[in-house]
Order: sequence, then structure tokens, then C-alpha cells
Amino acid sequence: MLNTKTIIKTSFLTAALALFTMAQPASAQQRDFLPPMMGWGAWNAFGQRISEENICSQADWLVKLGLDKLGYKYVCIDDGFWDGRNDDGTLRLQTKKFPNGMRKVADYIHSKGLKAGIYSDAGDNTCASRNVEPWGLNVGLAGHEYDDCKLYFADWDYDYIKVDYCGGNNMGLDERKQYTKIGDVIKRIEKEIGKNIVYNVCRWEFPGTWITRTADSWRTTADIIDSWEDDEKRAWGWGLKHILTRARYEQAYTGGGHYNDLDGLQLGHRLNDQEERTHFAMWCIYSSPIVIGQDLRTLSEKTLTLLRNADLVAMNQDRLGLGAPVVQREGEVYVVAKDMETLHGKKRAVAVLNMSDRKQTIEVCLKSLGFVGGVNIHDCFSKADTKSEGNTVSVTVDAHDTQAFFFVGERQDKTLYQAEEAWLNEYQRLANLPTAEAVDASKACLGAMVQNIGNSERNYLEWRDVYVTKGGKYKLTFAYAAAKERDLKVNVNGKDVKTFTNLNTGSWDAQWSTCSVVVNLKAGSNKVRLGNAEAFAPNIDYMRIEAVK
Ligand code: GLA
Repeated sequence: MLNTKTIIKTSFLTAALALFTMAQPASAQQRDFLPPMMGWGAWNAFGQRISEENICSQADWLVKLGLDKLGYKYVCIDDGFWDGRNDDGTLRLQTKKFPNGMRKVADYIHSKGLKAGIYSDAGDNTCASRNVEPWGLNVGLAGHEYDDCKLYFADWDYDYIKVDYCGGNNMGLDERKQYTKIGDVIKRIEKEIGKNIVYNVCRWEFPGTWITRTADSWRTTADIIDSWEDDEKRAWGWGLKHILTRARYEQAYTGGGHYNDLDGLQLGHRLNDQEERTHFAMWCIYSSPIVIGQDLRTLSEKTLTLLRNADLVAMNQDRLGLGAPVVQREGEVYVVAKDMETLHGKKRAVAVLNMSDRKQTIEVCLKSLGFVGGVNIHDCFSKADTKSEGNTVSVTVDAHDTQAFFFVGERQDKTLYQAEEAWLNEYQRLANLPTAEAVDASKACLGAMVQNIGNSERNYLEWRDVYVTKGGKYKLTFAYAAAKERDLKVNVNGKDVKTFTNLNTGSWDAQWSTCSVVVNLKAGSNKVRLGNAEAFAPNIDYMRIEAVK
């Protein structure tokens, strides 16, 4: 059922995406949530050197370059526009930078047919003020949630907010409580003023699955730096490799109009051509918000060509809004894929990401991608259209590079579900708690497993879309490892179907064994949940399903 926010979003979206969806088939035009936001953000380009003049000029350039027509609609102000707070609680502005006030800037952005973004903190202080600069003291949302949001969205007419957490840290706030409180205030104001507001949470790690019910998008990493590797001199930033390594096993949480935000783009600086292709293509296939982080006046033709790649943009803005789990892995080369346009339909977005330092050729397995027979292949970079020959497609990828494709063909039901692609209900990276998480495990299928399942009712692993064309009896086989005796409870579509007891392989990640149960699955989508409310369950590698004749 559609809730109010969904309805507001649907009508907003109809207008916002009319242009974009025109060329797509009818089925692709129905969507009941917003796609990842696309636009420009001030932080990577200007830091605090923002002003009415340069923000408005970026809005001009977004239009001048035609990027707005491709969906790049948001112009987002970041840290550095306040000047402390008055005793009566009202916010002061840095009037040298914004002499005509912030409403003037939003109006200008809107006059260009664009959307305006603003920035705040969940706590008291801003990040760039390092909690000491007077302009950044006490300007965050804590204690001013409703009044500040009213100011930003009603009085100033902004459409998007990024909510940082340096002040939240400073005050020792509880992330879940504070971000949910802000989310609730935003929902209330959306109703009061009748417009959609995009809520982006910036807590620098995946905060917990609660975030998917509160925010439209959430940062999952520290600040991106313009380098492949992390930089020891910039301990705070993450290089591209680090961000992509983390993103591999967080794909289950993107969906239904709520997205992992891999941070703003760092094109046009120190990344080489291959790394830039990887940067953009992976942000696109992962359905991350796309926030250009460069001064638009200085974009090179090379960067522009990448940003204007309509295939990759379509991959990002696809109506299903899915994450893209790993379906094949050869060392440091990953094949990730997601359905496009129709769930379990014929079209899939496929990316082959080479995280290694040498050129590699891999045979991409069509069966692993869920195809039966051959596929039509569209190369999203070269634009070449070809057909597959045989059961695999040979793909060569330079070091740090990515190849991206649309594969179109007949599908067959998926038979192998990796644990690391499942929804881990208590997954979070803020507290040092043993909640279920996907980790590398070289002896596991595709090099990963899930550990720390169980010990509470809520700490389960769930495959939420176990899809079978025909309903009937299926054998579910689970690969597990445990160095001590552990129990595993299996629940299908809300019913407990089996508890395996005393599972023990003598190792947590090196010795694997399997256990099976025959269950009824209904035609279409099924949920399979693994857990153990009383104690920890074994580690899980995958589930295989086969029809029982
Ligand atoms: C944090 C955020 C950045 C940026 C700065 C501003 O570091 O993660 O994206 O907003 O604050 O101070």
C-alpha cells in the first residue's frame, strides 16, 4: 500500500522524471518511490568556500551543460553558511557569503528548474568548525529539530537535507533516536507544507537497518578522497578501493527508494581513467546517490562524457532501485548484477569490477547471472551490441577498471543464494556488538560468509526474495561452519520449519558442511530466515534450492 510520503513522491516523480523515462518501455514508467538523487554538492568542490555567487553559478552550469536534462537536479549547499545562533535560538548567517539570505539562493536554484539542498548536523556543532569555531557552534539540529527544519523547508524552501554527525558525536547522542526524531520531524513538515523532502543521513558507516525506515539515503563510509588507496596522511578519508570493498556486502539494504550513499564523486582529480570509470559505473549499478563533487565550470570533456553516459545513468535511476550483489568472483575480480525494469525479468545490469593491480580476463558465467541460454549484450561504455556465444562471456578488464553491460535474455530461477547478499536484520557498524555481518572467508563460496547470526530473536539472516516460478516442494540446503555445537532454526514465510541441532564442523570458516530440509515454497517470492533466538547459530555460506520431483 502507498503511504502519504510515497504518494507525494510519486506525483513529484512523475514530473521530475517525465523527460527521463520517455524513452523507456511502459513498465519502466511506473514507480512508487524516488530514484537515487542526482545533482551537485558543494563539499568536494569548495569545502567551506561557498557563497551565493558560486552556488548560483553551479546551478547555471548544471543547466548550461545539459546535465539537468539527464536527471542531475539537486544543487546542494554543505557546511559553512551559518554564523552561530542567537540567544533566542534563531540561526545567524554568514552574511558576507550569503548577503541576500538562503531563501534567495533556493529561489534562484528553483528558477532554473532545479532542486535545492541544505546541510545541518544531528547534534550541536558542525564538522568543519571542529567544534570550536564560533560560527559552527550550536548551529545543528539538536534541540531545534522542528524550528530549524521549518526554516529550511518552509521558510527557505529547500528540498533536500544532508544531516552530518560531528555534533552528534560531540554530544554523545544515540544515532537511532536522534536521526529517527529528525526523520519524524521531516515527515511532519512534509505533510504541513505539502512537498517532498529528501533526507540524507551522514553518519560515515552503515548505522543499522533502522536507517532504511527513516532516511532516503545514508552515507556508509568516511569522506571519499580522490585516490584508489586510502591515504595515510588523511586518516579521515577513504579511497575508492576501501569504499567498494565495504559496499560489496551492503547491497541488501538498498531498495524501495532507500539507498546506501557512497559519498560525492571525486572525478577529475587524481584517479586515473580506469578508476574514474569504476567510480562512476559502480556508483550507478549500486544505486548510490550521484552527487558531482567538482566545480562544474572546470569539468573536462572526459568527465562530462562519463557523467552523460545515459546507459549508466539509467542503471542508477532504474525503477526497481536495487542494490547489486556479487554473483561471481575470481580473486579480486567481481561480477555484480541487478535486475532492471522488471523484477526477475529479462534485463539485468552487470558490472565486472577489477580491484586487482593487473589486467585480467574472466569468463562471466551466464548461469550464475540467472540466464538460461544466450543473451544480447549492450556495452555501456563502448555502446557495442553483441550476442553471447556459449555459456560464458569473456570480459577483459584493466587494473582498477570496470566494464558495465546490460544483458538481456531468458531467465531461470536462481538456485544459489549467498549469505552475504541476504538481509541481516541487526547489521550495523556503529557499536562493537556481535551482530550478524558478512565477512571475507577464503574457503567459502565467492570468498564470503555471514558470522554472528542469532543469540537474539531479531539477529537473523533473511533472503527476502527467494523466487520460484512454480510453487511446490523444494529442498533447501544450507552450507554452514561452526567450531562448537550450534543450532540453526529455519523459518519459511513466517513459519518455523526446522531446527538443526548440534551442528559442528570443527572450524568457524575453513571446514564447511551442509544440512537440508524439504519445504513448500509458493510461486513467486518467498522469505527464508535463518536464526537462533537462544544462542548463536553457525556461520553460513549459502543456501542452494532445488525442486523435489
Ligand atoms: C563531514 C561530512 C562531509 C562534509 C563535512 C563538512 O566530514 O562527512 O561530507 O559534509 O563534514 O564539514
